[in-house]
Amino acid sequence: MRILTVVGARPQFVKSFPLSAALAADHEETLVHTGQHYDDELSAVFFEELDLAEPAYNLGVGSAPHALQTASMMRKLDPVVEAEEPDALVVFGDTNSTLAGALVGAKRDVRVVHVEAGLRSHNRDMPEEHNRVVTDHVADVLCAPSSDAVQQLRREGLDAWTVHTGDVMYDAILWARDVATDESDVVDRLDLADGEYVLATVHRERNTADPERLRSILAAFDAVPQDVVLPLHPRTEKSLRENELWTTAEDAATLIDPVGYLDFVRLLEGAQRVATDSGGVQKEAFFLETPCVTLREETEWVETVDAGWNHLAGASMADIRWGLTELDPPTERPEPYGNGDAAERIAEVLASG
Ligand code: UD1
Ligand code: UDP
Repeated sequence: MRILTVVGARPQFVKSFPLSAALAADHEETLVHTGQHYDDELSAVFFEELDLAEPAYNLGVGSAPHALQTASMMRKLDPVVEAEEPDALVVFGDTNSTLAGALVGAKRDVRVVHVEAGLRSHNRDMPEEHNRVVTDHVADVLCAPSSDAVQQLRREGLDAWTVHTGDVMYDAILWARDVATDESDVVDRLDLADGEYVLATVHRERNTADPERLRSILAAFDAVPQDVVLPLHPRTEKSLRENELWTTAEDAATLIDPVGYLDFVRLLEGAQRVATDSGGVQKEAFFLETPCVTLREETEWVETVDAGWNHLAGASMADIRWGLTELDPPTERPEPYGNGDAAERIAEVLASG
């Protein structure tokens, strides 16, 4: 079977490598990179570390407002799909690259497979919510990572297209955890001690576009006794500089460039707690048993909150501070995201036509 896989942003490189490995034996996969992320530390580093094939196409769209970026991806992807005539087109998650891939596949009457289907924040202000809702409603195969996601798709009348596969990010981290422990020296390089620091990431539009939220998050980091390590997404760096918060940030945390996946997983494994507005990082923290404080008011990954391992703090200084010092999850943990064989299951679903 000929599969066209569309990726473009950091989390999609992580989500795609387990599936590429699972497809390698029986299928012919062509990788398309939209170019949504283009800095080496948001893109190239993942291709090197994760043994991902060089993309056959890089659409080179770069940064732009949401509609223009999505439209530009669609214009450039459509002739690729026309030329390649794939049997299926695979998209991951909820970025503009996901939406563009799904719409072009649907318009070209190609079987569209959405990996990480059925997630909802129920916050219609999030660009990611638009992307995931539309993608689920045009895709032909909805690969749901959890029972909650299956239920959600059922409520939206999408039962007939839904398959409960488990979560490819669990597959990814089971591989990365051991490799990172052996190969990454990031904890030493940053002069940190396991179990004594907080790992933080902030990049969500809601936080970076609002200097008051950023200020409050930084005040909380400044107030906790642990060292806070903050690998900076470029949009966050831009916002800190534009809003004259750079010095405040330097005082509150150790600012570093974004790191590769193996270094990130190692940092997450060694952290005492994590503070993040990322979707993927909330789950990875759960997999690695690192308590998580989420810098948002709601989450798609409700299972982590229900299990007591994730505290939704928003941008409230008091709440973040409480979470980073007091959050004490129960020792019992459910396993809502499958067995680590999601990629194999998705490959089987694809093969079954
Ligand atoms: C995108 C996704 C978000 C995902 C995140 C992963 C959408 C709507 N958002 O957000 O869901 O969580 O990726 O990291 O698709 N920039 C650079 N270098 C790059 C890429 C971006 O400097 O290589 C800067 C540009 O100033 C750009 C800004 O970051 O305007 C935002 O990039 P963009 O891809 O639009 O959104 P993200 O915030 O990265
Ligand atoms: N990640 C990384 N280096 C970093 C920050 C994150 O490798 O400096 C990885 C992280 O392990 C996870 C993915 O990037 O697999 C999450 O991406 P991001 O937070 O950008 O996007 P989201 O999950 O919110 O869509």
